[in-house]
Amino acid sequence: MTSHFSRREFNKITTVVSVLLVIYYYYYTNNWNFWSSRKVVGPKPSIPFGTVSDIITGRHNIGTYLQKIYTTYRKSKLVGIYMLRKPVVILNDLDLVKDVLIKDFSKFVDRGGEIHENHEPLAVHLFNLEPQKWRPLRSKLFATDVISVCPFGLQAYALAEEDSLFWKMGKKIFELNIRNVGRAILGDFMPELYKVVGYFFMDSVLDNFIIGITKDTMDYRRKNGINRKDFVDLLIALKDEPSKVGDIELTDKLLAAQLFVFFAAGFETSSTTIGNALYEMALNHSVQEKLRQEIKDELIRTDGKFTYEGVKNMKYTERKLYEKLR
Ligand code: HEM
Repeated sequence: MTSHFSRREFNKITTVVSVLLVIYYYYYTNNWNFWSSRKVVGPKPSIPFGTVSDIITGRHNIGTYLQKIYTTYRKSKLVGIYMLRKPVVILNDLDLVKDVLIKDFSKFVDRGGEIHENHEPLAVHLFNLEPQKWRPLRSKLFATDVISVCPFGLQAYALAEEDSLFWKMGKKIFELNIRNVGRAILGDFMPELYKVVGYFFMDSVLDNFIIGITKDTMDYRRKNGINRKDFVDLLIALKDEPSKVGDIELTDKLLAAQLFVFFAAGFETSSTTIGNALYEMALNHSVQEKLRQEIKDELIRTDGKFTYEGVKNMKYTERKLYEKLR
């Protein structure tokens, strides 16, 4: 069956579409004078990504972009950019950075992103949470030195088995695919649209894996009276005594989200750092040799055993690592 539009109908449709586009254009760009009206300098925004099209299209990474901003506007303490529609300020002055991170931190606790719990159940974690929930959880969850323990208290076999499930899930979190990129961009910068279409960006395989494994591990520990004094035990203790975190409802999803951020944050950051450090060493043999020598010397002192104190003694290695992180 075919359908035909009369010329009149066609004109009507074209007019409606044009009006909608103009309204949308107005809505999209109506706060692009936010910075100029406040006399804050910055790059000129353009459709569709504001001032960050180089990042979104992958021409620059965030670091290079920020470096460019820093050098272009070196004389200004503040630079205003637009992440799509959203005005964002970049501090170009160390004293201001210090004020935000230390002196006036209480006024800047908010991460500034959006949380869409319906579509992203694992997003309610420390990194994202709003101050009312972040403060009590943060003080409780970092109370113990848990960073070195695998957060789930499970053997991940990520090195021994090529297709370890943990490895696969970790890769999934940071994969540059349409779902992950779309979620990151729309969720933060077009939250109204994301509320409607967010469902299509969900990764239920990952969500169910993390929520399931958290619940199973906690149930198993309880049933068998196991206490490893690790992150999972900390969560179980919080669940048993919720008054410790005020009136926050400690749902299974909220607890799973905290484990998730430890897993995700530990996965990508450490492997990128180690990968980059190895690359630099491959290019720079004299540094590599010095590092090897320091490690060998220390192992001689500790009878071939890796000890905490021994690692702390590796000053050259430590300096190289800090330099890498810088
Ligand atoms: C080379 C390694 C790492 C780097 C460069 C790194 C970097 C960062 C940065 C820049 C932040 C944001 C800080 C802020 O603005 O407040 C952060 C937050 C965080 N990181 Fe890491 N990280 C690393 C390793 C880890 C590891 C191994 C874990 C956990 C096992 C972890 C867990 C977290 C958590 C939970 C937060 C959120 C803290 C909060 O807001 O309360 N990170 N990290």
